[in-house]
Amino acid sequence: MPPTRTIPSEPPVPAEAVAPLMRGITVLRRLTDADGTLSSSDLERATGLARSTVDRVTTTLARMGYVRLDGRDVTLAPGLMELGNAYLASIRLPVLFRERADALADELDESVSLAVPDGDGIRFIHQATRRRAMSLSFRMGDLLPAERTAPGALFAAGWGPAQWAAWRERRAADPDGARFPSLPPRPSPPEDDFTARVAAARTDGRALDDQLIEAGLVALAVPVRAPGGDVVCALSVVSHTSRHTAEGLVDTLLPRLRAAAAAMEDRLRTAPPARPVPATGVLASWTAASKQELGREFIESLARGLTVLAAFGDGGETLTLSAVAQATGLPRASARRALITLEHLGYVAVDGREHRLTPRVLGLGYPPLSRTTLSRIAQPHLAALAGRTKESASLAVLVDDAVQYVARSASHRIMSVNITVGTRFPAYATSLGRVLLADLTPAELDAALARTELRPLAPRTLTHRTELEAVLDRVRTQGYALVDKELEEGLRSIAVPVRDRAGAAVASINVAMHSSSRTIEECEDQILPQLRDTVRKIEAELHTAERFTRVAVA
Ligand code: PHB
Repeated sequence: MPPTRTIPSEPPVPAEAVAPLMRGITVLRRLTDADGTLSSSDLERATGLARSTVDRVTTTLARMGYVRLDGRDVTLAPGLMELGNAYLASIRLPVLFRERADALADELDESVSLAVPDGDGIRFIHQATRRRAMSLSFRMGDLLPAERTAPGALFAAGWGPAQWAAWRERRAADPDGARFPSLPPRPSPPEDDFTARVAAARTDGRALDDQLIEAGLVALAVPVRAPGGDVVCALSVVSHTSRHTAEGLVDTLLPRLRAAAAAMEDRLRTAPPARPVPATGVLASWTAASKQELGREFIESLARGLTVLAAFGDGGETLTLSAVAQATGLPRASARRALITLEHLGYVAVDGREHRLTPRVLGLGYPPLSRTTLSRIAQPHLAALAGRTKESASLAVLVDDAVQYVARSASHRIMSVNITVGTRFPAYATSLGRVLLADLTPAELDAALARTELRPLAPRTLTHRTELEAVLDRVRTQGYALVDKELEEGLRSIAVPVRDRAGAAVASINVAMHSSSRTIEECEDQILPQLRDTVRKIEAELHTAERFTRVAVA
């Protein structure tokens, strides 16, 4: 007979819990553990839900912009990051500390991270990663077991008997670390090793990870404390044994790590208190739609419950039930049941009348989505645009004096130009380039045009600088560029800029066609509104994704 293992008893599901909200969260967690994508049948297997339930849940999540349905696949969408963003905004630490953390990474030329305690584990709330071969790096929102990290030993220095008991229970129930999908499988360190490291962390006020995660990876962490003395997060520097031994990190980098932590503590002390924004209007787009528009498949109780998570962040660190009801526009009874469900699942913690989000909220999509790129965000929208217009749609960025294609959805029509991702064209002769040139400062534009020889590429290429400048002025006021037979005979294209949260044009999208397929007027009347609609969707996802992470182009 195999030895029986005591299974930790789960708290009973409260009678008021909203079952569809629980199912929706299960679906989001399985998708996150699978790195963002599962087929509907795999989702059915992973969640144990009936196929019809999986379909209704994913239809609802798709309507909210939290997943994308692509044939049989269900994929997490950047809109979901608004839940993790609400948590990150509510704790304020990333906003207050990230500049200092990034500066430290530059100064040390090593990766630097911020982590918070999450039960008996740690979760990353900021990563300033150096790109290096050899060691893996974790993503924002990744959960790691305390005993295999440097920050975990610091946090455990403050654990009471109940937390130690929970830690032992988890290790007994999950000896192989299946609950930590981002962790390479390795035997867990024995209990005595961890208790010794925790004791050392208590006396030294710092902790080491000497290759506990994987061979070669070393880390040193120090606590960052609130004015009252509580540890609010850990600041770590992460390196590789080819550059530093674990003890070497202490000798060489500890003073600078401590100085950065002290600066963060100062910032926390002097930061003006969060000003709770009078909370109204955080309502998600779906709430404006009628029941008929949403369709019979739409599970309103799931959407309402997730909206409760999104209501935090803008309204300050904690919210009362009344504030949640006001922020979401939900009836008090619905808001209350959602909060009870979310508390039961560990996403909301309650202290008296105040509710706050827990780091577990980051487990709803953040790790895979935090690594998304602008080209991945744009791709499905370009495909939809190409499908509707039956023409090719592309995304490009400015590289020196050229536009470079970074994403593209080609129509099935045969085009004379063979453009692929990576193709470069002179910016001055393309619609994609002109909207980006038009966004440069006068000095930048001057420098760009001084470097560029305006060569005739096709019969109608503009080759006079003053003419080009006049055209760029028009592009700037109109917000789009239309280029006709200037790059190649017979090629016509129209482009609009893609702007980041700060309003800078970071890329552009266009639709290109043979000049016989539409007149210039038809381009402006039929294509331009669709381009603008597409850019709105891309920008909405980009702005959500880049609120707390850096979104690379490709
Ligand atoms: C990380 O930021 O990747 C990190 C931090 C502390 C560790 C291990 C990894 O102990």
